[in-house]
Amino acid sequence: MTDSQIRRDVIDVLVDDHRDVTALIGEIKVVADPMIRRDLTDTAISELVRHAVAEEMYVYPAMRKYLADGEKAVEHDIEEHKELERTMKRLEAADVSGREFDDALRQLETLLADHVQDEEAEQFPELRRAVPQEELVELAGKVETAKKLAPTRPHPGAPNSELFHKLVGPGVGLVDRLRDKLSGRATR
Ligand SMILES: [Fe+2]
Ligand SMILES: [Fe+2]
Repeated sequence: MTDSQIRRDVIDVLVDDHRDVTALIGEIKVVADPMIRRDLTDTAISELVRHAVAEEMYVYPAMRKYLADGEKAVEHDIEEHKELERTMKRLEAADVSGREFDDALRQLETLLADHVQDEEAEQFPELRRAVPQEELVELAGKVETAKKLAPTRPHPGAPNSELFHKLVGPGVGLVDRLRDKLSGRATR
């Protein structure tokens, strides 16, 4: 293992998530087979939901603590997450061969690009400057663990808060995973 792998920090993990989901959306756009489209879509949704939950649990507290405009940045990101969740809900329900699906997919692509741009151009570099390296590395582990337990389906009505995710989230995640298993939903 190289030094950079050992020192992988939370920003590396989150940027990888952004790349993965963006790549999945790119694939969905070019795939015609409805079953593959559905599987790729469900995987993208599950990845993005877990990414957002992990951010809400571990990145928001760091933003509030370390960034000058942390609270404002958190509020803005919550708005984005809500929009992403509502759009994923549409994608979850839509027929992959229909117009509504293409519409929602285009919207998700745009929203995600905005989300990625905001975080990677502003908050993430600021966090790298402000948060001690040890803490960034520790947060990487916490984010990886959170993603394993987090819900795999969008819940736009649920609070985007650390406390909710810690108290109620694992139960929601369990139910989501059970439903995924029973329905054969692809969630990676
Ligand atoms: Fe975010
Ligand atoms: Fe993100």
